[in-house]
Amino acid sequence: MKYLSLLLISAAFTFVACKKQNKHNPVCDGSTPTYNSTISSIISSNCVSCHSEYGSYAGLSATFSDGSFEKEVLTDQSMPRNGELSNAELNTIKCWVENGFPEN
Ligand code: HEC
Repeated sequence: MKYLSLLLISAAFTFVACKKQNKHNPVCDGSTPTYNSTISSIISSNCVSCHSEYGSYAGLSATFSDGSFEKEVLTDQSMPRNGELSNAELNTIKCWVENGFPEN
């Protein structure tokens, strides 16, 4: 009986541990990042390993014209898959999105 409850407790912990971490709440800090100044380096270190087409502004632009960039990165925070952006990176991206994805 003792053994069974231990088993149940550890199963419960495993379940909690596997849930996706809390989402960040990105807030623009008022900075005005551009693709060339800041965003391209975040994208190349976190996205291009899986999405080689995002290695250029033109390649990435399809994802912001159809809204999928904002959805995946800021709203759902499901990208980068197998990773996580820092608060600072998300805040920077938030400003960039609010400012309309400036290239430079
Ligand atoms: C480990 C691999 C991996 C990384 C890293 C990754 N992605 Fe993805 N991404 C995927 C896969 C696989 C899909 C398609 C399946 C899905 O939607 O889950 C996808 C889908 C997407 C989509 C939806 C558009 C579409 O074509 O379906 C967007 C937008 C996106 N990723 C953006 C990004 C951005 C921006 C980053 C970096 C912040 C990133 N991804 C990092 C693997 C990755």
